[in-house]
Amino acid sequence: MKVERICADESSIRSSKLMGLRCSAIAAAMIVGSVFIASGAVAAEPGMDELKQVMQGQLEMMKPELRTKVEGLSTDTKMSLMAILAMHSRYSERATMRQVMTEVLSDFQSILAGIMTDNPEHTADAARRLANHRIPVGGLLPYLGLENISDERLSILTGFNDSVEGNALKLAAAADSGDMAMAASLVGPIATGCVACHGVFRSQPGVSDLLR
Ligand code: HEC
Repeated sequence: MKVERICADESSIRSSKLMGLRCSAIAAAMIVGSVFIASGAVAAEPGMDELKQVMQGQLEMMKPELRTKVEGLSTDTKMSLMAILAMHSRYSERATMRQVMTEVLSDFQSILAGIMTDNPEHTADAARRLANHRIPVGGLLPYLGLENISDERLSILTGFNDSVEGNALKLAAAADSGDMAMAASLVGPIATGCVACHGVFRSQPGVSDLLR
């Protein structure tokens, strides 16, 4: 419940603050992975605290079997999960992942409508909305299945996040600069990210157990 309170308040302030955190969280993730310069760690401090609080709130909502697995993840994995969260400033108190994904699909389709009508503003807004999609209630992990809560499986999440959110932000920047051909060329890479993540973390949607 803590997450909801932290995240529902002052959403615009939070939003700019969290967007600013994005790079520092990623930098911090890299430092933990012992790759990059340590100077970023200082700048990352306040942001990391806030993100840790968000993660703590999510942990408190989890049933013990999930919580135990999440707590057992490596620091590297936890840092990369926080880096993903840091790219988002909208947290839902009730939307499930399936509902959020349906919104993501609408934004994806809205990007196409913007491109096809040669409307950079429409395109850029939809792409930014997609990149900053809501985080479902309890975070992403409760929807991925217990079998996927391991360092190995979750290590591929960051790549999917980069191909979807990263390319959506690039697409928005291309639209802003009026380069609609470039924006159009990024639709494929985004779709590839969606499909790849579904291939790993989702089974066939809506299968009925009343069929033999
Ligand atoms: C982080 C991995 C990941 C990425 C990236 C991702 N999805 Fe999903 N998606 C899922 C999971 C997991 C589900 C199943 C959620 C559930 O049923 O609880 C899902 C479900 C969906 C559904 C609902 C289908 C159903 O189960 O009824 C749609 C629509 C969807 N995704 C669209 C998209 C689109 C469009 C993109 C890219 C712009 C995308 N997704 C990117 C993981 C992902």
